[in-house]
Amino acid sequence: MTRPSVLVTRPDIPPEGLALLRDRCDVTVWDKPEPVERSFLLENIKGKDALFCMVTEKIDRELLDAAGPSLKVIGTMSVGHDHIDMAEVKARGIKVGFTPDVLTDATAELVMALLLMTGRRLVEARQQIYNGGWAGCAWSPLWMCGQGLAGSTAGIVGLGRIGQGVAARLRPFNVSTILYTGRTERPEAAALGAQFVPFDELLARSDFVIVTCALNDDTRGLFNEAAFGKMKSNAVLINASRGGTVDQEALAAALRSGRIQAAGLDVMTPEPLPPTHPLANMTNCTLTPHVGSATVKSRTDMATLTARNILTGLDGAQMPARLC
Ligand code: NDP
Ligand code: DGY
Repeated sequence: MTRPSVLVTRPDIPPEGLALLRDRCDVTVWDKPEPVERSFLLENIKGKDALFCMVTEKIDRELLDAAGPSLKVIGTMSVGHDHIDMAEVKARGIKVGFTPDVLTDATAELVMALLLMTGRRLVEARQQIYNGGWAGCAWSPLWMCGQGLAGSTAGIVGLGRIGQGVAARLRPFNVSTILYTGRTERPEAAALGAQFVPFDELLARSDFVIVTCALNDDTRGLFNEAAFGKMKSNAVLINASRGGTVDQEALAAALRSGRIQAAGLDVMTPEPLPPTHPLANMTNCTLTPHVGSATVKSRTDMATLTARNILTGLDGAQMPARLC
């Protein structure tokens, strides 16, 4: 019996996931650590039954045309799916699996880390040890002061799985109020003590604005000059969704002018952000390189879930986490 063929776009997939695929399929793997070259992808997707991909791969009409009618299943090792042209895959009857839930804890923890790093200026403070700042004014009362979570108002944009994970973690830090906004009120909000408000009200009231929404046509560029103009001057913006939700020029201007206090970003445009980018060189901007889900457990669970999505999709069985 012929085995299904699968193209995998990274060599360092957690082995548990790759082993599941190798057991039942012929697997072709891109063998370099950097994102797969587009030309390799277009050439090697031809005639494959399935694709195991990452957020770095654009799944568009060109790629689907190159694959041809054999392609039945795409498993993306991510919960975000803005890199996939969903209308096009649906029109072709291709099944798509993704990785919700298994990365929620890791990503919510990263948001907490960014909140504390950015609000309390921890990267800047660490630098003072080496740049003479500490020697110059050790324990001067207002030196290196930032803002804490206790007593603050935190506003969450997108109270989905990760947003809820953040809300639950904010409570023990004694925030006074949790606001959230989204397309609709969420039934889970009551148990989290989160209050639904319009976007503009969230901006006007929040000391910490936390972005955990999906990137789509409504959220692209949501954080623009007008939005920063509505935020409190002490506001700290945290973005763990996608870089595309933020107009980075407007953010850099807002940080430079003191319109808002600080930003902590796990996601940017482009990725990797060049180290010369203005946002990478501001003391009130803390960057992490898209590591929200980067725990060994989370990435291992994401890999096995992606493999299971692909295998069940190929079998015509129910996929554990199906997008379409
Ligand atoms: P969910 O689908 O559970 O949540 C998505 C949220 O986005 C929903 O609450 C939804 O709101 C909200 N949303 C969608 N459109 C809008 C809009 N127009 N205005 C406001 N809110 C909107 O997904 P997850 O919580 O699992 O993941 C969220 C996102 O986080 C992913 O799409 C991905 O981009 C990003 N992510 C980043 C990671 C990282 O490493 N930094 C790791 C994992 C995910 P509503 O309730 O109204 O539908
Ligand atoms: C996702 O899953 O969408 C992240 O961005 C990567 O974990």
